Amino acid sequence: MSRLDSMLRRLSAQRDGLNWAAAQIAGKPGEVLDMGLGNGRTYDHLREILPDRRIRVMDRVLACHPSCTPPDEDFLQGEAEAMLIRLADEGARIVLAHYDFGRGIKEDDVAEAARLSPLIARVLAPDALLVSGQPLVGFEQISGPDTIAKDRYLFYRA
Ligand SMILES: C[S@@+](CC[C@H](N)C(=O)[O-])C[C@H]1O[C@@H](n2cnc3c(N)ncnc32)[C@H](O)[C@@H]1O
Repeated sequence: MSRLDSMLRRLSAQRDGLNWAAAQIAGKPGEVLDMGLGNGRTYDHLREILPDRRIRVMDRVLACHPSCTPPDEDFLQGEAEAMLIRLADEGARIVLAHYDFGRGIKEDDVAEAARLSPLIARVLAPDALLVSGQPLVGFEQISGPDTIAKDRYLFYRA
């Protein structure tokens, strides 16, 4: 498969997964967390499909498209580890988290996701949903929407 095809499949899995998860949390209290602001695409999508939720977003750099700049109070700028600890210390209760950290080097990305998993667990509400591009550790893996091939994008319940 070409890298273009692979990227297109990844992006549509990401969108379908987020849409599916947004529907699952309807009526449940809690905030949303997007790990990896990047260009701001998934953050922008989340705020479009969940206009009434507070959406926290994390990244070590602010380098998104200007139209996707989050409000200062919702942007956690810094290394994930420190930012997750800060969020946990604030008593955050995240009902939906999206994990999109990574540089595209599989081995490093998988190791980072495993290392961050216990810290992610600390910010989640009971029964929270996790949508992730990388395998996370210590959560119950569940099936996502039928449109997404197994293991293309991953879904977990806290
Ligand atoms: C794949 S991009 C995110 C793409 C974004 N969700 C979008 O839709 O545009 C990954 C982002 O995660 C950030 N990142 C990766 N590891 C990180 C870490 N340990 N702490 C903070 N930010 C990190 C990078 O700076 C990068 O902007």
